[in-house]
Amino acid sequence: MAEEFTLNTGYKIPMIGLGTYLIKGTDFTDKVVDEALGAGYRLFDTAHMYNNEKYLGAAFKKMLEKHNLKREDIFITTKFVPSTDYKTEEDYHKLVQESLKNLQVDYLDMMLLHWPGVYGLSNRSKDVITYRHNAWKALSKFKEQGLIRSIGVSNFLIRHLEELKKECEVIPALNQVEYHPLCFDLELLDYCKKNGILLQAYSSLGTSGDRSLRNHSVVKDVAKELDKSTSQVLLRWAILRDVAIIPKASSRDHLVDNMNLDFDIPKNLMDTLDNMGEERLDWNPHDVI
Ligand SMILES: NC(=O)c1ccc[n+]([C@@H]2O[C@H](COP(=O)([O-])OP(=O)(O)OC[C@H]3O[C@@H](n4cnc5c(N)ncnc54)[C@H](OP(=O)(O)O)[C@@H]3O)[C@@H](O)[C@H]2O)c1
Repeated sequence: MAEEFTLNTGYKIPMIGLGTYLIKGTDFTDKVVDEALGAGYRLFDTAHMYNNEKYLGAAFKKMLEKHNLKREDIFITTKFVPSTDYKTEEDYHKLVQESLKNLQVDYLDMMLLHWPGVYGLSNRSKDVITYRHNAWKALSKFKEQGLIRSIGVSNFLIRHLEELKKECEVIPALNQVEYHPLCFDLELLDYCKKNGILLQAYSSLGTSGDRSLRNHSVVKDVAKELDKSTSQVLLRWAILRDVAIIPKASSRDHLVDNMNLDFDIPKNLMDTLDNMGEERLDWNPHDVI
C-alpha cells in the first residue's frame, strides 16, 4: 500500500495514486479500477474534462465491494476549469453536485481548480483573477460545508499561489503540476513545502501520447544501472523529493510496476536525471496573469 501524507486539512492522502485521463467506457474502467484496487491503489485522479467521472463512479460501486473496501478507504480527486459560465455560488454548487452524482458519493476528498486561467477570457485579462478567486471562495464554502474535504489547485505558479494567499482565507492543500526530469521547478517545490501545500506531479511518465521520456537514453541508462524500469525511475525520482505521483496506467503490469518504488536513487544518478534538459509537455501556466 502506498505511503500517506497528511494534508494541511488533517486528511491523509496516498503519495501514489492512479491518473485516469483516457480511462473511460464501462468495461475498460471496471477492469482498470478492479486491477488498481487489487494492486493497492487507493487514490484516483479524475476531472470534469476527462468525461469519465460517471464510469469511475459505477466502477467504484462494483469494485469496492468486490475488494471488501468502503468509500472511506479510497481518495477521490476531481477538478474543473473556471469559466465565465460560472458566476454565482449556485453555479459552482451545481458543478460540485454533478461530480458527486457522477461519482456516486456524498463527499469528494479533493477538488482542484484545474487551471489558473478561465474559459471564455484571454489569459491576460484582469478579470481572470476575479473569476479565479471567486471560484476558490466558492470551493472554500463547500469545504466548510463538508461536501469537499480538501481543496487544491493545479498548474499554479508561485505568483498565482501568493495572490490567492493575499486575497483568500483558505490555503490550498495541494498543487498538481507537470513534474518530471524535463520539467520541474525546485523553487515552486520549496514554496509549497514552506506553505504546507503538497506538490503532486502529473505526466510523470511523459504523457500517454508521447513515449520519448520513458524511452530517453539517460533514463534508460539509470534504469539499467538500478535494475528497474524507466517508469519506476521516473516515479521514484519524484517521490524522493516528497512529490506525490498519479501515473496513469491501464495494464496490470504497468499498475503493479508503478507501485513498486521501494528503492534508492543515489545522488549522482539523481543529478544525472536533473540535468537531462528542459521540455514542457502539457499546459504552460506562465502565460496566465
Ligand atoms: N492537472 C492537470 O492539468 C493534468 C494534466 C495532465 C494529466 N493530469 C493527471 O495526471 C495523470 C497522469 O498523467 P498522463 O495521463 O499525462 O500520463 P503519464 O502518467 O505521464 O503516462 C501515462 C502513459 O504511461 C504508460 N505507462 C504507465 N506505466 C507504465 C510502465 N510501468 N511502463 C511503461 N509504460 C507505462 C501508460 O500506458 P498504459 O495506459 O498502456 O498502461 C500511458 O501510456 C493523468 O491521467 C491525469 O489524471 C493532470
